[in-house]
Amino acid sequence: MNILKVQGGKELEGRVKISGAKNSAVALLPATLLCDESVNLLNVPDISDTVALFDILSYLGAKITNLGEESYKIDVSNIENKPITDEMSNKLRASYYFMGALLGKYKKAVVSYPGGCSIGSRPIDLHLKGFESLGAKIEYEENNIIISAEELKGSNIYLDFASVGATINIMLAAVKADGTTIIDNAAREPEIVNIAMFLNSMGAKITGAGTSTIRIKGVKNMHSSVHEVIPDRIEAGTYTIIGALVGKNLKIYNIIPEHIEALTSKLKEMGANIEIGPDYLVITKKDEYKPVNVKTLVYPGFPTDLQQPFSVLLSRCRGKSTVEETIFENRFMHLPELRKMGMVVSLDETVATFIGPNELNAAIVNATDLRAGASLVTAALAAKGVTTITNIEHILRGYEGLVEKLQDVGAKIKIEEI
Ligand code: EPZ
Repeated sequence: MNILKVQGGKELEGRVKISGAKNSAVALLPATLLCDESVNLLNVPDISDTVALFDILSYLGAKITNLGEESYKIDVSNIENKPITDEMSNKLRASYYFMGALLGKYKKAVVSYPGGCSIGSRPIDLHLKGFESLGAKIEYEENNIIISAEELKGSNIYLDFASVGATINIMLAAVKADGTTIIDNAAREPEIVNIAMFLNSMGAKITGAGTSTIRIKGVKNMHSSVHEVIPDRIEAGTYTIIGALVGKNLKIYNIIPEHIEALTSKLKEMGANIEIGPDYLVITKKDEYKPVNVKTLVYPGFPTDLQQPFSVLLSRCRGKSTVEETIFENRFMHLPELRKMGMVVSLDETVATFIGPNELNAAIVNATDLRAGASLVTAALAAKGVTTITNIEHILRGYEGLVEKLQDVGAKIKIEEI
């Protein structure tokens, strides 16, 4: 088993380059199936989630060529529709995008239940309701979901919740449907725009991505294209938070600043020393910040994926701060681990209340999910002593080159096999 060992207290100075967005790449890869030829995807992060998706594409017959520099040619001109089985699909939640992609291309998809972090029940009812609106039938066989349609017809779909996954999956299923589909109360995350631009570059006719109303006019064929994964706003936000704790002129570059505006404006409210450029930011730590209240919301609100790393920063706030999680029902599993390191925090249903400041001390802590793990790395970098973090595969799946990027700016962090 691999663990992380982190010697805290080091000031981190230098430059961190942000990689392609995990939550964009994991949708772009299944979306390549909709092409009738081959596509080139650039800036694909090398993380276990993308490796798992490349494996599924290869299983379906795609020819993957690594072009170097995180670019790949994906030739899908000779693929076949096969069931996406259990051991493939439960490695990650994003395997569910093969539902929309295979349904959109073949009018049939057989995919077993997706995996993903245990931060909530993670239902897919909105995805399935969207597919049914397009004319698909949903059947269940053991652990498989069978989605099939005689024909897919454009439809008006209202999402009860602005679900990122459902918005993308319905787009994938609708791009080749007969007629126009309208998704109302669509998610507005930047990843949605990145997917829509990719589909349009292959010949789809999607308008309104990034707003709450997306229109998809069905087309017959989808052709080759070259497309780039946008920078990972959650990775950028995580390193920004680390910089607010232990940074010294820490430059985080290859970012789209407006994608993390909810975070940077909160940091300014706290008194952070942050300079924002066109595609980078520079942050230097402060020993004390003003207490704040944060409520996670759909984009452009404060991202739920940053509430766990952000919580660590509240150890530097004098007084009471609160974090309210409104997106997932079980996204506070990091709190018991942070308490072991000295944080004073109580939880009442969906609101965590922090009383600072607290001195953080090393401990042996367990990563329960991806962003909880990120919060433990963040805390370990600021804590006195050497922290051990277990279950680090959760963390490495979402942060490309985490250890190397931190070592390059002076962190004493390493992976140990035990
Ligand atoms: C995506 O998950 C991201 N994952 C999550 O990032 C992110 O936290 C989330 O969007 C919100 O921004 C990927 O993109 C692979 P949702 P997704 O559908 O699509 C409920 C990370 O750390 N819901 O917007 O699963 C659901 O239970 C991960 O990188 C339904 O009720 O998020 C949740 O409470 C974690 N029915 C809420 O909506 C549905 O059919 C948000 O879900 C779908 C969702």
